[in-house]
Amino acid sequence: MTNTALIIGASRGIGLELVTQYAGAGWTVHGTTRSIDQPGPLALITGNVTLHQLEVRSEDDLQRLRGSLIDIPIDVLIHGAGVYRNTPRDEIMAVNTVAPIRIAEALLDNVAASDLRRLALITSQLGARRGRTGSLGDYGDSKAALNDSFRARAPDWATRGIRAIVIHPGWVSTDMGGASAPVSVQDSASGIRSVVDSLTAEMHGRFWTWDGREHDW
Ligand SMILES: NC(=O)c1ccc[n+]([C@@H]2O[C@H](COP(=O)([O-])OP(=O)(O)OC[C@H]3O[C@@H](n4cnc5c(N)ncnc54)[C@H](OP(=O)(O)O)[C@@H]3O)[C@@H](O)[C@H]2O)c1
Repeated sequence: MTNTALIIGASRGIGLELVTQYAGAGWTVHGTTRSIDQPGPLALITGNVTLHQLEVRSEDDLQRLRGSLIDIPIDVLIHGAGVYRNTPRDEIMAVNTVAPIRIAEALLDNVAASDLRRLALITSQLGARRGRTGSLGDYGDSKAALNDSFRARAPDWATRGIRAIVIHPGWVSTDMGGASAPVSVQDSASGIRSVVDSLTAEMHGRFWTWDGREHDW
């Protein structure tokens, strides 16, 4: 029996690489894109990959995704879709804060029904408050709020047997991170996979980095 991964935000960057690596490792993979008619490199990945339409702010898309995945156990759900600069604050908060929690909760039954029951929401070190109370900028605010929402829900998720974390992927060479970023998308994705793979009950509810270190809130 192969394991199943669901990657939210798989059209580019870290999400695309996660689909590539999980599929390459023989997993059954579901990946979401908001451009199912023009999936680009996502359509070229070899392996057992199913694509789904998902604009993460769309309730209709989410309900359709939920319907397509009914009774399918999801061993690993990783939410990577995110926006950074040159984006209105409302959109940053909707995509980076509201959507990951809403999507995770909509698919919690699928994760709880699986063997591995792993859930990772990609956050950022720029969302670490480290005791500060002022604004971290729109992006940092959105990731700090994601971390807060995650921490509030993690105890409930644990009662379902789910091991969930927020994870910083490194400063990664993607469209978002830019060409001079020091971490390759391959290393980031393999690091995230490795942390998720080795998730223990003690690691649940905490903030980790792609290379396996715990991060301050
Ligand atoms: N790269 C870094 O250095 C870095 C550092 C810290 C944290 N992160 C976090 O890591 C995650 C992945 O980043 P990345 O570097 O891979 O970014 P990226 O290359 O810019 O890719 C962003 C992904 O999010 C998707 N997305 C954005 N808005 C969406 C929406 N409304 N609905 C559905 N999908 C949407 C994009 O889809 P489209 O192709 O349709 O736009 C794309 O697949 C993000 O959460 C980001 O905040 C990245």
